[in-house]
Amino acid sequence: MATNRTFTMLKPDAIENGHMGKIIDMIIEAGFDIKAMKYTRLTEEQAKKFYEVHAERPFYGELVEYMTSGPIVAAILEKDNAVADFRTLIGATNPAEAAEGTIRQKYAESIGRNAVHGSDSDENAEIEGNFHFSANEIF
Ligand code: PPS
Repeated sequence: MATNRTFTMLKPDAIENGHMGKIIDMIIEAGFDIKAMKYTRLTEEQAKKFYEVHAERPFYGELVEYMTSGPIVAAILEKDNAVADFRTLIGATNPAEAAEGTIRQKYAESIGRNAVHGSDSDENAEIEGNFHFSANEIF
């Protein structure tokens, strides 16, 4: 059964390019409630662990390097059908294929620097949220 939470990170390119506020606005305008949020920078160890499911993929090293290259915003978001609706809001992984008006179509640079992460399942949303936040940081 679908839960009502998802996890997101605004990635280093989004922050570097000054898109943090506009992306958070789009998220709120789309009806998501922010249950937890932090501005932080991933350590290499954290990034490797977060993306370990992709460890065998050719871009893993590049992905870890990029995700540790600057600050990110991590957040837990709540809305009915959160995981699917958030993936619709952010658009395809490759911004060249992202639908008009999606966050990645508007703000991502490339498939490797694609502005935002969104959990791909309810199970991963919970794992990823708990990876970044303790219970007393979720409201
Ligand atoms: S997804 O969203 O999980 O279905 O997409 P997927 O294609 O499986 O990609 C998983 C994460 O890897 C990132 N990615 C890449 N990084 C660098 N270079 C290349 N070529 C590349 N292709 C995919 C992609 O942005 C996904 O990161 P997250 O943070 O999960 O969105």
